[in-house]
Amino acid sequence: MSRKLSMIRDVDKHINETVTIGCWLHNKRSSGKIQFLQLRDGSGYIQGVVVKSDVTQEVWDAAAKLTQESSLYVTGTVREDTRSKGGFELNVTGVEIIQITSDYPITPKEHGVDYLMDHRHLWIRTPRQRAILVVRAQIIRAIQQFFDERGFQLVDPPILTPSSCEGTTNLFHTKYFDEDAYLTQSGQLYMEAAAMALGRVYSFGPTFRAEKSKTRRHLIEFWMIEPEMAFVAHEENLEVQEQFVSHIVASVMKHCSKELEVLERDVTKLAQITAPFPRITYDEAVDFLKSNGHEFEWGEDFGAPHETAIAANYDRPVFITHWPTEIKAFYMKPDPNRPEVVLCADMIAPEGYGEIIGGSQRIDDPELMEERFAEHELSKEAYQWYLDLRKYGSVPHSGFGLGLERTVAWICGLDHVRETIPFPRLLYRLYP
Ligand code: 4AD
Ligand code: MG
Repeated sequence: MSRKLSMIRDVDKHINETVTIGCWLHNKRSSGKIQFLQLRDGSGYIQGVVVKSDVTQEVWDAAAKLTQESSLYVTGTVREDTRSKGGFELNVTGVEIIQITSDYPITPKEHGVDYLMDHRHLWIRTPRQRAILVVRAQIIRAIQQFFDERGFQLVDPPILTPSSCEGTTNLFHTKYFDEDAYLTQSGQLYMEAAAMALGRVYSFGPTFRAEKSKTRRHLIEFWMIEPEMAFVAHEENLEVQEQFVSHIVASVMKHCSKELEVLERDVTKLAQITAPFPRITYDEAVDFLKSNGHEFEWGEDFGAPHETAIAANYDRPVFITHWPTEIKAFYMKPDPNRPEVVLCADMIAPEGYGEIIGGSQRIDDPELMEERFAEHELSKEAYQWYLDLRKYGSVPHSGFGLGLERTVAWICGLDHVRETIPFPRLLYRLYP
């Protein structure tokens, strides 16, 4: 049997026409002579109106049998209806049941977070979770568009790696036949090689950190976007980042207004996200914290409360630049005027969402890189290929990594990153 199905998102192109839609029953109300079916097909929601006097007994009975999340083909005439949420209604003429569902675990009542997480495979069917995943997909589209329009090539670094990028404390270990291997924490080192081959590149892939952190900002598996740019120094790196993040926010506001409404996101906050973004140095940030009653020593890393306090001074993301060399990664280029700090920046999102980007100019000098290898006790054998990049036509270059899930959490205004990815991998949660 072949039938031509329409999607709910396209009903505006079928006003006063009869369409058939494959869908699920989200909810139902009945007033004796009329049944109101809240229908969803993934692309949107529409109310189906079944009027007893207008349909056959068979259709009426089929509609009456429908329970939450039952699947069906519904046929009806599309009516413009300014009172309904989506602006359209379906005057139902046919109901063909695919499956009647019983005991659906997620009812319209409130459920606890653990229960919802155990039922994540069903939880994603709710309007709120759907809205988040639609925004995530739009953010991904915006990211690809930004780089594709600016001459960056998409490059895929490996997932299984023989060595670490961001330090060895939170690596996922696995066997690679007889060798040891690790799931990638960051594709950056490979992206540096790619930038020397292709100029401007970006990667978009999963990264893994075996961090024993149970916070609302940490995932064990998260997606990172890592651009790397040959012949680009620190200041231009920041300019690309602020253009990039403003582009993403503008794109979501343009294409996802319905979803942001479902999420009750205060869009006036998002409308303020335009480049340039403020920049403060690590030193200035420390002074600010100290003069506002925080216990803090120069050389420490900022925790979530520190980031939140700093970000509260701004209505858009803020760059914290020039961090102490000793607390940042081995590959960051020291400030030539002040080698105890590096040419790097973390971008802190507003409204308490924390660091969304980490980036830096990279060391391009072969001798200094060798020194860093000695200080950090990195194996020259394991990283010989990386050292080659400083030996054969080394050039100034910079890059950064944007955490996708933290960006989704911020733009959607969510309390926790667990809702930003279809199937979150969290500390002690690998199911479903
Ligand atoms: O600051 P990070 O560790 O930087 C790097 O990995 C660099 N190699 C990137 C580069 O320059 N190419 O991570 C970058 C971003 C963070 O700002 C944060 O948004 C996100 O990745 N991130 C996490 N997101 C969710 N859960 C975690 N456990 C995360 N760790 C980092
Ligand atoms: Mg970082």
